[in-house]
Amino acid sequence: MKKIVIAIDGWSSCGKSTLARQLADELGYLFIDSGAMYRAITLQFLRNHVNWESKSQVEKAIGDIELEFIQDPVEQKQHIHLNGENVEYEIRDMVIAEKVSEIAAIREVREFAVEQQRKMGRSKGIVMDGRDIGTVVFPNAELKLFMTADNAVRVERRFKELYAKNPQVTIEEVKNNLEMRDYLDSHREVSPLRKAHDAIELDNSDLTPEDQFRIALQWAREKIAMAE
Ligand code: DC
Repeated sequence: MKKIVIAIDGWSSCGKSTLARQLADELGYLFIDSGAMYRAITLQFLRNHVNWESKSQVEKAIGDIELEFIQDPVEQKQHIHLNGENVEYEIRDMVIAEKVSEIAAIREVREFAVEQQRKMGRSKGIVMDGRDIGTVVFPNAELKLFMTADNAVRVERRFKELYAKNPQVTIEEVKNNLEMRDYLDSHREVSPLRKAHDAIELDNSDLTPEDQFRIALQWAREKIAMAE
């Protein structure tokens, strides 16, 4: 059976990764959360006090980064490893969320990440979610989805997720962070968040994860049949 590339883009906290993982599991495809790569790079920059206004410091720091996705035997999910260390939990912290959009806007950072993402998709059979997957990373992806949801729904979802790990977090903080990231992600100079002209928009404000999965799987199957 022919394999395709599925690109899922959209605003922060729209459930992109959840859908991407479900599709990948069902189709036996590789799932890549590209946001995790930008988060891991941010973690490395913060840990090493990299001045990201300096091109030479950024280039040097990137040269020292190795990213890998490795299946976690307990969770049965891919976890991102930064230079051999599993940083899947640490990159989900608010500290990272506050800086990641700034770092993801740096040209050299994007070139580094995009090159690796394209390599991962060389033999197709991949579902990748992010902000520029359908526009820049895989402009020829057979299926492109652009996910949206009401702001209040997104804040609520992200708040629940973060609160479970850290009850200190406030709803105001989560709301401000989402607004800031949406703004920075869609206004940056290098590959800003855009809906690709051939992407299907999927608003999941009133959809359960199961409904959303059923709809997207149907689209994926149609595209796979067309690719035969
Ligand atoms: O999907 P996420 O919230 O984990 O992504 C974290 C940040 O990384 C997001 O605010 C913008 C950036 N990002 C990006 O610029 N391009 C991508 N393909 C994925 C994420």
